[in-house]
Amino acid sequence: MKPSLSVKVGGLKLRNPTILAAGVLGVTGKLLTSVAMSGAGAVTTKSIGPEPRDGYENPTVVRVRCGLLNAMGLPNPGIKEFRKELEDVKKTVNIPVIASVFGFSPEDFSDVAAVMRDAGADAIELNVSCPHVEAVGRQIGQNPDLVSKTVKKVKDQVDLGVFTKLSPNVTDIVEIARAAEKAGTDAIVAINTVRGMKIDIKTSRPILSARIGGLSGAAIRPIAVRSVYEISKAVQVPVIGCGGIQCWEDAVEFLLAGASAIEIGTAIMDEGLEVFNKVVDGIESYLAQKRISEVSDIVGRAHSY
Ligand SMILES: Cc1cc2nc3c(=O)[nH]c(=O)nc-3n(C[C@H](O)[C@H](O)[C@H](O)COP(=O)(O)O)c2cc1C
Repeated sequence: MKPSLSVKVGGLKLRNPTILAAGVLGVTGKLLTSVAMSGAGAVTTKSIGPEPRDGYENPTVVRVRCGLLNAMGLPNPGIKEFRKELEDVKKTVNIPVIASVFGFSPEDFSDVAAVMRDAGADAIELNVSCPHVEAVGRQIGQNPDLVSKTVKKVKDQVDLGVFTKLSPNVTDIVEIARAAEKAGTDAIVAINTVRGMKIDIKTSRPILSARIGGLSGAAIRPIAVRSVYEISKAVQVPVIGCGGIQCWEDAVEFLLAGASAIEIGTAIMDEGLEVFNKVVDGIESYLAQKRISEVSDIVGRAHSY
């Protein structure tokens, strides 16, 4: 018998545990639709804020060994404009659409989340963890009280699952996860990118226009696995793992560490959209070989050792 890959996470039922990570291809409705057709269990939009933002000047992305550094500066069309994109996506896709939102105060987050809900979002992901926009990733995401206020405000405003996406750029990620759980979050997403930098040795200049950016891809996977392991030990709500997942073996590692589902971002740039089907097929064969009937049975198995 084929193993069941469907999972329940934060009020959503997914056909399989793979999710498109925020910001990678989730910019337009068309792109979100093509990811949905490629086999993902759910898609996450680019982070959208209350007003349009241009983001930083180029260069905003640079490749490094084993990863990618980006400092986009949260460019987005603003919620008023994005609303139409989301409405269009919802007409064409039949998997959950998670709306990633950001703001500069708890009220901003809840205002944007309310419009996303009206436009048909199935869940809200709070980006309190952008590493290169000071007011979002640092002032809110590194402060358990502000994370708590933000989660509460959004939970009061919208009757959808609210996921809180955490930054690894803190002294104790578990403390922030506990604050989000206490405030009522329905799931924790771990992790956003890790602060990093690259300098051009010919010109002596930092390459990114914002100088410091966020590292993603294979280089951050062990940090993400450790974060998922520690957080899932400390909280009752489900954890969604994210960071450097490139193949099914990586995905299984996150599930064993305690993730109920996983998000894929940077790998799409190397592997294309086929990465979703490859990961799903690989997880299925792994379970079949081990005679495990449900993917949820392996979630957190590494904790028994
Ligand atoms: C180009 C780029 C843009 C991103 N934009 C967002 C964003 O808008 N919101 C967000 O929460 N995370 C954003 N991220 C972070 C990813 O969602 C993800 O947390 C991170 O890249 C780690 O996963 P990965 O190694 O699979 O890419 C972005 C990442 C990249 C590479």
